[in-house]
Amino acid sequence: MRMLIAYASYSGNTKEVADLLYEELTDAQLDVDMHHIDIDPFVDVSAYDYIFLGTFTWDYGCTPDEVKDFVYRIGYKPENVAIFGTGDTQFGEETDYCKAVDKLVTFYSSKWSGLKIEQSPRGSQEENVKQWVRGVLENVYSYA
Ligand SMILES: Cc1cc2nc3c(=O)[nH]c(=O)nc-3n(C[C@H](O)[C@H](O)[C@H](O)COP(=O)(O)O)c2cc1C
Repeated sequence: MRMLIAYASYSGNTKEVADLLYEELTDAQLDVDMHHIDIDPFVDVSAYDYIFLGTFTWDYGCTPDEVKDFVYRIGYKPENVAIFGTGDTQFGEETDYCKAVDKLVTFYSSKWSGLKIEQSPRGSQEENVKQWVRGVLENVYSYA
């Protein structure tokens, strides 16, 4: 099973979630690669069985352009895409909170509900990240 964690992050919150996911997946002895969208060279996602796609939300509920470009460049909808993201309830309407996560869950018809983290995942929200990734892994093991 090959896993890819692809994420966009400006100020580091989404990267922190990606790092926690990396720790959980490697602890589970899975083969994991990290991809920082728009920083690392484009990656061939077809080489992976599971893709964890991470995004922050921008500009009143928008998905960042880098993430949209990445999604369009992939050019098809892989079967197993789990979405995570960070946001801030102080920005815009309540419905704008982590809205990019909701949009990507819908776009990919993801099998899993999106993981939404308010700002940094360190501290009390760390457990939410662990619970979520364990939920995804249940599916991985049932197909292994
Ligand atoms: C100009 C601006 C607009 C933002 N708009 C939203 C928004 O609409 N919804 C949301 O949930 N968070 C919004 N945020 C908060 C970021 O998504 C949040 O800080 C996120 O954790 C940043 O991720 P990063 O640290 O990985 O770059 C906004 C932040 C900025 C600076």
